[in-house]
Amino acid sequence: MSMDIIVMGPPGAGKGTQAHAIADARTLPHVATGDLFRDAVHRETPLGQEARVYMERGELVPDAVTVAIVLERLEQSDAARGVVLDGFPRTFAQAQALDTALAARARRVQHAVYLNVPREAILRRVSGRWLCDTCQAAYHTLYRPPSVAGRCDACGGVLAQRIDDRRETAERRLDVYLEQTAPVIDYYRQRGVLREVNGDQPIADVQREVLAVVAALR
Ligand code: AP5
Repeated sequence: MSMDIIVMGPPGAGKGTQAHAIADARTLPHVATGDLFRDAVHRETPLGQEARVYMERGELVPDAVTVAIVLERLEQSDAARGVVLDGFPRTFAQAQALDTALAARARRVQHAVYLNVPREAILRRVSGRWLCDTCQAAYHTLYRPPSVAGRCDACGGVLAQRIDDRRETAERRLDVYLEQTAPVIDYYRQRGVLREVNGDQPIADVQREVLAVVAALR
């Protein structure tokens, strides 16, 4: 049986960190729109050039572009059993497009895991974040430091800061989240699939709660 899980929450809530753990636990692909866009920016593709403009401003990439990249990813064979979506959907239009795409495959969103984290904690996390240039693994100067400064534990790649982690851009991302994405959380709450987890705890504690939530999934 297939399983489709969404991980939601404000920027820096730990979506990537926890989506990765869920994907490992349930042997599902982790599909993160932010990672797909960063990869396109890195490779300087036409999509990357378009996405970069929005990402640098802390704005959402237009729905048509975002939906297309996710639908293309869902076509790949490893997504046939389901996916863990991280950072998608972020608007009603995206949520509706996802419903339609999954329904066409006789699937639906079973769980939307919502990581609730207050604004001050988010800004602290985002400003201390470092990402591996090669495998995109996330580190934090205080909460998840790499064993060797500036190097990825997983692959030895170089760690770099994101283009949208400057404080003023991070503030804008938070405002955009409140305006456009927070209402989508209510959409899943009303459908009875939302599972709220306190994301303002140490990573291991959040992970324990998140994995308990998805372990209950059939
Ligand atoms: P995206 O990459 O999705 O960014 P985001 O939503 O702003 O979220 P982050 O990646 O910043 O944080 P996260 O919640 O994944 O947390 P993480 O685990 O990394 O999107 C970037 C941009 O792409 C958007 O602004 C937009 O332009 C575009 N985009 C993406 N999706 C889109 C869509 N659907 N539609 C339109 N545009 C889209 O953790 C953050 C840091 O905190 C790390 O350093 C981590 O180690 C640390 N940390 C994690 N958990 C904890 C914890 N419990 N305690 C302490 N530290 C922690």
